[in-house]
Amino acid sequence: MLIAQISDTHILVPEAEHSAAELRGDCLRRTVADINKQHPDAVVITGDTVQHGQPEEYAHLRELLAPLDAPVYLVPGNRDDKNELRAAFGDCPYIAGTGEFLHYVIDEYDIRLVGIDSTLVGERKGRFCTARQDWLDGVLGQQPNRPTLLFIHHPPFDVGDHYVGGYRRPEEAAALEDIVSRHPQVAGLLCGHVHWPVEREWAGTQARIMPSVAVDVRKGVDEVEAGGRPVYMLHQLSGATDLVSHTRTVGA
Ligand SMILES: [Fe+2]
Repeated sequence: MLIAQISDTHILVPEAEHSAAELRGDCLRRTVADINKQHPDAVVITGDTVQHGQPEEYAHLRELLAPLDAPVYLVPGNRDDKNELRAAFGDCPYIAGTGEFLHYVIDEYDIRLVGIDSTLVGERKGRFCTARQDWLDGVLGQQPNRPTLLFIHHPPFDVGDHYVGGYRRPEEAAALEDIVSRHPQVAGLLCGHVHWPVEREWAGTQARIMPSVAVDVRKGVDEVEAGGRPVYMLHQLSGATDLVSHTRTVGA
């Protein structure tokens, strides 16, 4: 199963008098076109889809994502407004119309996909409260023998000097690690938020952070090599829990 990952697109309304608006739209447009050429089975978006959580931004996001051939599954980031996101993507069956959390399970593939909501209104840092802990533990306990891929906006671990303590309560990040470590069918955890690429072992599985698709806010990418082109990630899952990932530069 091949999964494309997009993250931190930070889309702005095209009419905005903001030089980034056109740039970010163009980054996502080119990324979508390149993803279609790779023929993934699904596309996941790990949050911060738009900049200000405004309906006009979500309308533009939908236009930009519309050409995708594969189904797209998104989780919110701290920049997203869950109510506006629901309003814009309410016709997607996996998005619950109500409730505090925008999390879900996709069971229609060989690999189970679990989108986790790490956001709280007004909070920049990650949250993974006891209600979410109980939900994820229950979900993973339902099908312990099916390979499962998790995706979430906030990485539940420190990634360097610029990102220490990414969760408001460190014990909540530790709880996420504990739950995943008790469910060995988890093939990996895909994250966004920090805008630069990180790969590491975590909770007995593999974690991946992909850089932002928006080139004006990304870090940790060789800009000479990338030549100003957006990057995204492709994840190949073969075998039970064998996650092979690579970062693709659009048009390379
Ligand atoms: Fe972001």
